[in-house]
Amino acid sequence: MIRSVLVGTGSALPRRAVSNAELAERVDTSDEWIVERTGISNRHIAAPDETTSSLATDAARKAIEAAGFEASSIDLIVLATATPDQTFPATATIVQNNLGCRGGIAFDVAAVCSGFLYAVGVADSMLRTGMAKRALVIGSETFSRILDWEDRTTCVLFGDGAGAIVLEAQEQGEEGSRGILATRLHADGAHNELLYVDGGPSTTGTVGKLRMKGREVFRHAVVNLAEVLKEVLEETGHSPSDIDWLVPHQANARILDATARKLNLPAEKVVMTVGQHANTSAASVPLALDQAVRDGRIVQGDLVVLEAMGGGFTWGASVVRI
Ligand SMILES: CC(C)(COP(=O)(O)OP(=O)(O)OC[C@H]1O[C@@H](n2cnc3c(N)ncnc32)[C@H](O)[C@@H]1OP(=O)(O)O)[C@@H](O)C(=O)NCCC(=O)NCCS
Repeated sequence: MIRSVLVGTGSALPRRAVSNAELAERVDTSDEWIVERTGISNRHIAAPDETTSSLATDAARKAIEAAGFEASSIDLIVLATATPDQTFPATATIVQNNLGCRGGIAFDVAAVCSGFLYAVGVADSMLRTGMAKRALVIGSETFSRILDWEDRTTCVLFGDGAGAIVLEAQEQGEEGSRGILATRLHADGAHNELLYVDGGPSTTGTVGKLRMKGREVFRHAVVNLAEVLKEVLEETGHSPSDIDWLVPHQANARILDATARKLNLPAEKVVMTVGQHANTSAASVPLALDQAVRDGRIVQGDLVVLEAMGGGFTWGASVVRI
C-alpha cells in the first residue's frame, strides 16, 4: 500500500523575539496575566523584510535538506496560511520559485489555525492517488500584520513563524507501516463570528484585523479536539496509551493541558512550544514537530498525533507513524 512517509522537517522564526514585558509597554497587560492565562512568555515578530513566503522558504529548505532531497524533485507544495504575501498568486508559488523547483503542483490552503492539518490531509490524498511523489507541506504565518496592536485581548496571544515537512509516497506493508495512517478534518461555519478578520478583498477591500471572543473559542476547542482525537485514534485502531507524542496546535497551554487530561495522556508526552512561540496559527504544529524531531525526542517508529482547531471553526487530527 502507498503511504505518505514523513522524511524531513524544518522551521523558521523571525529574528526578533518580543517578551511579555515589552508588550506591557504598549498595552495594559502584564507578564503575570499572560503567563497565567496562556503559558506564553515570548513570541517572534517579523520585520518588514520577513514575510510569510520568506519564512516558509527557510523552513522548506531545512526540511528538504533533512530529507536529503534535491529541491527540484519536489512535485507538490501545499502551503497553509491565513496571512499570504498577496491576495494572489498563492504564496506556495512564490516559495516554489524561491526553491527553484518549477512545474509541479503548488497552491495555498486556508483553514487558519487548522490549516496545516488540512494541508497534510490534501497532500496525503494526492500522494496516495499518485498525483505526486514528493510533497512539501508548509504552515507559515505573519499574524503580527493582522493584529490590532491596541487590543490587549488578542495582540498578546499570537506570533509569527513557519514550519515545513517533506512527505514521500512510499510502498509500505500493513504491519508497522510508516507514514500518515489517518487524518480527520471538520468544519462548522456557524461559529464564524467567534474568531474572524474584519476585512477582506471582497467585502471591505482591506486586509482587516483579527477579532476573537476568546472564552467561547476556548470552550469549543476543548470539546472539538477531544472528539476528533478519539475519532482518528479509533480509525487507526489505537488507544491514547499507544501515543508516543502529541503535537498539538499551540494556542494556549491551558487548552493543551485540558486536551491531554481528557485523553489521560501524561504532560511529558505533549510537545509544548507555546511559551516561546505563542500562537503561530498554521505554523504552530510543524514548528513544534520540527523542534521535537531536532532535539531528539521524536524518533523513527514513534506514533505521533497532530491536532489543531481554528477559525471557521475548523479542526482536525492526524495519526502518523514516524
Ligand atoms: C484569550 C484568553 C487567554 C482569555 O482568558 P480568560 O480567562 O477567558 O479571560 P477573559 O477573556 O474572560 O478576560 C478576563 C479579564 O482579563 C482582561 N484581559 C483580557 N486580556 C488581557 C490582557 N492581555 N492583559 C490583562 N488583562 C486582560 C479582560 O478584559 C477581562 O477583564 P474584566 O473581567 O475586567 O472584563 C482565553 O480565553 C483563551 O485562551 N481563549 C482561547 C483563545 C485561543 O486559543 N484562540 C485561538 C484558537 S486558534
